[in-house]
Amino acid sequence: MDKALQDALNLLLESERAGVLALEDLISEVEQEELRVFLRGSRDEEARNVREIETLIRSAGGTPSERTGPFAAKVAALPTVRERLNLMSRGQEWVARKTEDALALAPGTGPIHDFLAAMANHHRAEVEWGRAEVIRLMNA
Ligand SMILES: [Fe+2]
Repeated sequence: MDKALQDALNLLLESERAGVLALEDLISEVEQEELRVFLRGSRDEEARNVREIETLIRSAGGTPSERTGPFAAKVAALPTVRERLNLMSRGQEWVARKTEDALALAPGTGPIHDFLAAMANHHRAEVEWGRAEVIRLMNA
């Protein structure tokens, strides 16, 4: 497969993998049940993305990265749950941008295009919704 596209997809793969770890960590520290449920939903979504990106890379004849991005360690280094949640939200925004970069490298139609378009939309929506939801739940 195209090298630049494979690199872009692998960057997303490593980032979503780091997202799963960061969320696992966070879930174990959050006390509000409602917030935990919200974070579990995000974690499951990230895990689905990991599997899906691996499949897309393999189907296109490429090799999925086995690495995990540096994001989880950055989140874990922050002292409070609130700061971690804020960084998670900024992380979603970063992934949305990187997903749009990957989309620009993908063929105009087909499974990679469709997946990336949906992933970009989902991350954009989750940045906004997640921010509002986290603020609401942190103050509950
Ligand atoms: Fe994500």
